Amino acid sequence: MRILAIESSCDETAISLVKETDEIFLIEKNALATQIDIHALYGGVVPEVAAREHTSKFFPLLQSLNIARDGSDVDIIAVTVGPGLVPALRIGVEFAKTLAYLWNKPLVAVNHLEGHIYSVWLNEPQPIFPSLCLLVSGGHTELIFMKDHGRYEIIGKTRDDAVGEAFDKVAKLVGLSYPGGPVIAKQAKEGKKDAIAFPRPMIDSGDFDFSFSGLKTAVRVYLESHKNYSIEDVCASFEEAIIDTLVTKTLKAVNRFAPRSVILSGGVSANRLLRERLSDSITDTFSDIKFHAPEVSFSGDNAVMIAIAGYFRAKQKDFSNPLTLEADPNIRLI
Ligand code: KG4
Ligand code: ZN
Repeated sequence: MRILAIESSCDETAISLVKETDEIFLIEKNALATQIDIHALYGGVVPEVAAREHTSKFFPLLQSLNIARDGSDVDIIAVTVGPGLVPALRIGVEFAKTLAYLWNKPLVAVNHLEGHIYSVWLNEPQPIFPSLCLLVSGGHTELIFMKDHGRYEIIGKTRDDAVGEAFDKVAKLVGLSYPGGPVIAKQAKEGKKDAIAFPRPMIDSGDFDFSFSGLKTAVRVYLESHKNYSIEDVCASFEEAIIDTLVTKTLKAVNRFAPRSVILSGGVSANRLLRERLSDSITDTFSDIKFHAPEVSFSGDNAVMIAIAGYFRAKQKDFSNPLTLEADPNIRLI
C-alpha cells in the first residue's frame, strides 16, 4: 500500500509518499519546507504567518515529488488534523481533502501525536506491545501507555509548559535564537551540568505528571541575580534538570506499568543526551525492555510519521469524508 501523507500542524510543510509492505515502511518520496527562519524573526511561531507559508508551499512540494497527476501511485491519503495551530492545520486538511476528492482516494485523519509515536516504526525492529512512550515536543510532554495499535492511555502529562516550550523560553531568556532546543544543547556541551542546582519539578510527586514553568522561572531568577552568568553553565544545568526529571519519571512509569518496550519521540527526542541517558537507564535496569527512538532527522515534524500512523488507522478502516473533514486542534489520543 502507498500512503501520501500531509503535515502542516506547526512550522513545517511536509508531504511524503511511503510504501508499506508487510508493515515495513519505505520512504519513496519525501519533501519538507521549514519556516524556522521566518518564525525566528518573531522569537516563536506566528500561526497566521505559518498558514500563509503552508499555502504557498504545498503545490510546489507536491510538484517536486513527481507524483502522478492522476494520483495513480497513491492508495490512501493521510493528513494531520490536530493538535496544532488551527490556521496552519486547515491548509493541510483542505489540501488533502482536495486531492482525496479529485483522485477518489480514501482519506485518513491522523493525530499529530500518534504520528510522533509512529516515527519509530520506520526502523527495525519495531516496538513490541505494550509500550511506554515518552512524547516530548514543543507543545506536548506526555507519558503514554500504548497497549496496541491505536490503543492509548495517557498516564501523565505536563500541567503547564511542554519540555520543548521550556527549551524555547529559556533560550529566549539567555538571548539565544528559536528553536531553543538545539542551541541550548550546543551551549550545554561546553558547560558544567552541576554548576547550578535548578529544581527537578514534580520528581517525587507520586504521579506521572510534569511541570516545567517553575524551572523556567528558576532560570529567570538566577539570571537576574547573577549578571555575569556563564551561558554554557546555565544551559548545561538547565538541560540536566530536564533530563533528570524526564528519565526519573519515565523509569518510575516503567516500574509501574511493566511495558515490553519504551519509545522516546517528538521534537525534543533529537536531544542526544536525553536519548543516551534514557536508553542507558532502561537497558541497564531492565534487560528485557527494548528502547526505541526515531532517527534524528525524523524526530521533528515530518510527513513520513503521518503516513505510518495513517496506515494503521486505515487498517482499522478509520476513514474520513473528504467533503466534511475539519481540522481538530483538540483531538485526543484514545
Ligand atoms: O515535535 P516538534 O518538531 O514540534 C511540535 O510538534 O511541537 O518539536 C519542536 C520542539 C521545539 O520546542 C524545539 O526546541 C525542540 O523540539 N527541540 C529540541 C531539540 N531539537 C528540537 N529540544 C531539545 N534538544 C534538542 N536537540
Ligand atoms: Zn510535532
